Amino acid sequence: MKAPDNWINDPNGFIYYKGYYHLFYQYFPYGPRWGTMHWGHAVSRDLVTWEHRGIALYPSTYEDRNGCFSGSAIEEDGKLYLAYTGVRYEVVNPEDPHTCLNEQFESAQLMITSEDGFHFDNEKGKSVIIPPITDKSIGDRTHTRDPKIWRGKDAWYLILGSTVEEKYGEVLFYRSEDLHTWTYVDKAWKGPDYGWMWECPDYFETEGGGVLIVSPMGLLKNGEKEKNQSVCFPVEFDEDTCRMEIPDRYQFADHGMDLYAPQSTLDAEGRRVMEAWIRMPKAAEEGWIGMFCSPRVVERKDGHIYFRIHPNVRAACSKEITDISLASKDGYMAVFELEDGEQADIGGFLITRNGNRIRTDRAAVYPSFEGAHLISETPEITEGYRVEVLVDDNLVEVYINDGEYVISNAVYGLGKTIKLSSGKPVHLYTMREEDEGQQGEE
Ligand code: FRU
Repeated sequence: MKAPDNWINDPNGFIYYKGYYHLFYQYFPYGPRWGTMHWGHAVSRDLVTWEHRGIALYPSTYEDRNGCFSGSAIEEDGKLYLAYTGVRYEVVNPEDPHTCLNEQFESAQLMITSEDGFHFDNEKGKSVIIPPITDKSIGDRTHTRDPKIWRGKDAWYLILGSTVEEKYGEVLFYRSEDLHTWTYVDKAWKGPDYGWMWECPDYFETEGGGVLIVSPMGLLKNGEKEKNQSVCFPVEFDEDTCRMEIPDRYQFADHGMDLYAPQSTLDAEGRRVMEAWIRMPKAAEEGWIGMFCSPRVVERKDGHIYFRIHPNVRAACSKEITDISLASKDGYMAVFELEDGEQADIGGFLITRNGNRIRTDRAAVYPSFEGAHLISETPEITEGYRVEVLVDDNLVEVYINDGEYVISNAVYGLGKTIKLSSGKPVHLYTMREEDEGQQGEE
């Protein structure tokens, strides 16, 4: 999904509710750049075709007057509940009313409900559920944000991203019986090698065990521009004590280094499905900036976390074509296996098998700037080099071995050609056209 116009970043309030997938998102409606945050809103029947529905949340209270930052959704008694971070600038940037000066701001956690998922009373419907944190031993007054709520066995739980004195990222756990009164219970953090602030935490359970996803700021220490990256850990969480053991080793949620701030929910069939923001260094030709990855099913098996192509995307992309010229404007899927040394060239985007790794190179289809990330590579793969690529005008998603690893890259000016260096055939499947979609069907 692409920004409707102007700027989008994180997915928010992702939920299947009353027959629709709702995907809200961080939205700046006044220009193609980050600024005072609103929640934009999109809906879908199938996670594939999305319809933008305008602005759901906008700054309207003392606590959120400078931005409605990221948050999540849950359903209870037929109502939709959104929890999010309200931001209040203490010193506005004199040169730009949409940003603040030197990080002088305060964050509170707010809630708003809706009877149908489409109408929100921004004027009277907001309440503060967690005021700005004043106890430094718990968290930071400024950098505490992005509440994600889930239902546990006997209570509701909320995870928040924060920082230990702007040095180490941490997550805070709260518990509630009624969704209104929240009590802080415990926290988890790892120390200096894991970024200074953990944004957009998400915790969920899968058949194979619990998964924690966080987006640490300043995780990478290389010369590249994007130091903030999303990582995941296989974890166990104890509801009675809110204790979470986080292992030392993390996995990147995506190896393309463009994917950030993922958020998951359960789909209509009970699968754990994830969306995430794909960062872009400049606007697309049509002027918008920011997009989301294709929905991914998250599974944990033997301690590894898989991000698989969602079955609805496969179903929408199942019509085989014999030539790339027959692919729809909404994109296509290319499927092939790579022998060692073999390369696929997708309109200038290169995918190579290099020993036990898959490597991509987007130098020909990406702007060149200081710190640009052009080459991506998976860790060592033990078995199988089956590659499925979802290709769209501004996004290439490379799924290896059914989501063992994924490399997603923003691209510009991708050609409509495809070639394997070995000359072997590539299987091509076109994306169903929008008017063939299921939008509006019951
Ligand atoms: C992550 C993030 C969140 C915050 C939002 C603001 O990209 O920085 O932590 O809530 O974006 O737009």
